[in-house]
Amino acid sequence: MIWLIGNKGMLGNDVEKLLKERGLIYWASDKEIDISDYKVLEKFGKDKEIKWIINCAGYTRVDKAEEEIDEAFKLNKDGVRNIAIFSAKRQIRLIHISTDYVFDGRQEGDAAAYTEDDKTHPINIYGKSKLAGEEEIKKMLEGYFIIRTAWLYGFHGNNFVSIMLRSFKEKEAIKVVDDQWGSPTYTVDLAGAILKIIEDDSVKYGIYHFTNEGVTNWYKFARAIYSKAKKLNLISDSKKVVIKAIKTEEYPTAAARPRNSILSKEIIAKQWSSYIGKSITEIFRVHFI
Ligand SMILES: NC(=O)c1ccc[n+]([C@@H]2O[C@H](COP(=O)([O-])OP(=O)(O)OC[C@H]3O[C@@H](n4cnc5c(N)ncnc54)[C@H](OP(=O)(O)O)[C@@H]3O)[C@@H](O)[C@H]2O)c1
Repeated sequence: MIWLIGNKGMLGNDVEKLLKERGLIYWASDKEIDISDYKVLEKFGKDKEIKWIINCAGYTRVDKAEEEIDEAFKLNKDGVRNIAIFSAKRQIRLIHISTDYVFDGRQEGDAAAYTEDDKTHPINIYGKSKLAGEEEIKKMLEGYFIIRTAWLYGFHGNNFVSIMLRSFKEKEAIKVVDDQWGSPTYTVDLAGAILKIIEDDSVKYGIYHFTNEGVTNWYKFARAIYSKAKKLNLISDSKKVVIKAIKTEEYPTAAARPRNSILSKEIIAKQWSSYIGKSITEIFRVHFI
């Protein structure tokens, strides 16, 4: 009944784990069923009765995308269009994952948190390709779920938490930017929100923002991970790591990052209040350490 696309990725792994735990019937695929080739999608889905598609696949290498422009668009735009066409033909309900990077991050003040209706304006290739994917979905489908999220961390793959833990073991000092703001989001919580939509058999279509609660910057997040890791004896007592706050200008990257990645969760919280109330109240959750 459910087709999970991108099950070997960071988020996809946790979505699959939850699907199994909940005893839901699903098929799962990753790179072997190439979303950028429509015929491959058709062939895979031909004999299957599919009611939902959860698309966790994508091109996610933010800095590499600045050179690999075609590859990024091939997956995040063309691949997503293929999934949307397939969903439209078969009347499948699509849940697609998008990003805070569709915004430029320049919004400030009391209304700093981006709402679903705020004007998009990506400042890097990855963000542009993800926005193009959203637009394809809107063109192809009358109803869809697009969930924009940010700052994901989970058990699988490279993410800020795993990179920090490795750095704390290997280095004496690290520098982390303190002028990019956002909300770290645990992939298991996002997986739970995705499954909630399915379990509710929801047709409350639209674009939704989902992150964990609270706002921080990368420097503060790094400090929180460090103190948690110390408490859990993941770093020996004698090992001290100096974490220095720096500005974005002092840490040049190929792709520009939005300064403000804060997403407003008002709408998703209203729609699924009982669930969201539980899932996004804690910040700095590092369950998986
Ligand atoms: N990570 C974040 O902080 C973050 C923040 C906001 C939004 N998001 C969005 O959340 C979603 C999940 O992110 P993630 O970090 O879990 O991504 P991820 O770990 O990179 O997983 C994406 C998966 O898609 C696979 N894939 C690559 N090319 C494919 C193809 N042609 N056909 C089918 N599958 C293919 C990848 O395989 P390979 O690894 O072998 O290429 C990988 O297993 C993405 O849409 C991303 O844009 C992520």
